[in-house]
Amino acid sequence: MMLKKMDKWSLGIADMEWARADSRLLFLALGAAILVGAEQIQAQVTTEHPFIEPSAIKSETCLTCHPDKKEGKFVHSAVALGCENCHQASSENGKTAITLVATGGELCATCHEAKKEPVLHVPYREGQCLICHEPHTSNFPRQVRAETNLLCLSCHGVNQPDVKVNQEIKTVSLLGGRTLTLDDYRQAVKIGLDRSGTKGHPIVGHPVSGRDPRNKDAALNCLSCHASHSSALARLMPADVNPTAGLCARCHQ
Ligand code: HEC
Ligand code: HEC
Ligand code: HEC
Ligand code: HEC
Ligand code: HEC
Ligand code: HEC
Ligand code: HEC
Repeated sequence: MMLKKMDKWSLGIADMEWARADSRLLFLALGAAILVGAEQIQAQVTTEHPFIEPSAIKSETCLTCHPDKKEGKFVHSAVALGCENCHQASSENGKTAITLVATGGELCATCHEAKKEPVLHVPYREGQCLICHEPHTSNFPRQVRAETNLLCLSCHGVNQPDVKVNQEIKTVSLLGGRTLTLDDYRQAVKIGLDRSGTKGHPIVGHPVSGRDPRNKDAALNCLSCHASHSSALARLMPADVNPTAGLCARCHQ
């Protein structure tokens, strides 16, 4: 009895190594099983939508659980046209799957014709509409994600508080948590403003905010001198600028 036990515990060094290797393998296998489990759980959390009876798939049902989508200061007219214009829902075998009918700019292009002017703003051309617009509702006109200058400076400014660069995975988190690759973000030319962030472009000391001298009720901002999507002129100069008389003459005699 005693001997037998001794036999067992007096295995050679080589055997011990094997035993250790075995338990490590088992450990690895267990670890992998746990990891796979976690991934499955995570996938369920993000993809399993509450079940909706096929006959109940319509905007009114969606809105009972997602009322926020049609509330707010500026609601996108498409929401009133129906969720199904952008989301496809299908219920089968006790499960409901919801997908977008199209992604990126293609979704928007189902209703909004793309501009064909010679100069297209790169994020517009690339269909990155959701970087600047909320699809449902927003606190700003035209469903943009922020007040004009903040929106434009999220890509064209430096040291913006809501912009976070993740060097590890080479992405940049912009307004509303939208992400852009670091390369795309770097492609956007950074303009030089002074510390206040209100002056210094296009020439030293020039204001980019305040009041527009042509209309005291309007704000002076990036859109006083640039278009947001496209233009016939370089630098996205607004269409009504006479290239000979120039941009400056619009506000200065
Ligand atoms: C019974 C309540 C309920 C109804 C009805 C409902 N939803 Fe949801 N929806 C939820 C909940 C809860 C979540 C969050 C689940 C999650 O984290 O994935 C969600 C998540 C979503 C998402 C994001 C996650 C995903 O699965 O893509 C979309 C898009 C969505 N719902 C659209 C709709 C649309 C469109 C309808 C109408 C056809 C609808 N919902 C009806 C409760 C509901
Ligand atoms: C104009 C197209 C459009 C319409 C109309 C629309 N959605 Fe969406 N919805 C989107 C897009 C695009 C996303 C994905 C946004 C993203 O990537 O962050 C989304 C995401 C969602 C989400 C998940 C993320 C979130 O913002 O909570 C829910 C829930 C949702 N939509 C519900 C609805 C409901 C309910 C309706 C109808 C009342 C509706 N949507 C109508 C385009 C639309
Ligand atoms: C189902 C059709 C439909 C889809 C898809 C759609 N829109 Fe719209 N959108 C409309 C309608 C209708 C209006 C109102 C048109 C008008 O006022 O001239 C509108 C107006 C707008 C406006 C102007 C709002 C205002 O206050 O004048 C913006 C900005 C906009 N859409 C952005 C988007 C973006 C970004 C997408 C893609 C995520 C998108 N739309 C997809 C139908 C749609
Ligand atoms: C760089 C930010 C930005 C991007 C990217 C962008 N928009 Fe806009 N968009 C704006 C701003 C700012 C306005 C309001 C001021 C204006 O009309 O110039 C606007 C206005 C609009 C309007 C209402 C006025 C109009 O032109 O009819 C629609 C519709 C619209 N955007 C759709 C889109 C679609 C579709 C895309 C993607 C293909 C897109 N936008 C990409 C910033 C952006
Ligand atoms: C998603 C990031 C992003 C946002 C937000 C953004 N831009 Fe841009 N913008 C770009 C990129 C990328 C270019 C292309 C730079 C290049 O290749 O020269 C560009 C180019 C420009 C140019 C130069 C165009 C030319 O012909 O040289 C102007 C002017 C401009 N943007 C103005 C704006 C204004 C105004 C806003 C706010 C309505 C804005 N941008 C918001 C990414 C952005
Ligand atoms: C008073 C008019 C005016 C205002 C306001 C203005 N810009 Fe400009 N912007 C210009 C002019 C003029 C140029 C061309 C300068 C040049 O080519 O040297 C320009 C050029 C640019 C360029 C291209 C720079 C390059 O080196 O290619 C970007 C990007 C830009 N502006 C973004 C913005 C943003 C973002 C705002 C708002 C914070 C803004 N602009 C406000 C007049 C203006
Ligand atoms: C949208 C209107 C607008 C446009 C376009 C515009 N400016 Fe201005 N500019 C202003 C305002 C507002 C001020 C500040 C009040 C003032 O000094 O009149 C200003 C101030 C100035 C100043 C004095 C800056 C300082 O340090 O005090 C100069 C110089 C100037 N602008 C040159 C230009 C030039 C050059 C252009 C064309 C590239 C231009 N502006 C286009 C509105 C504009």
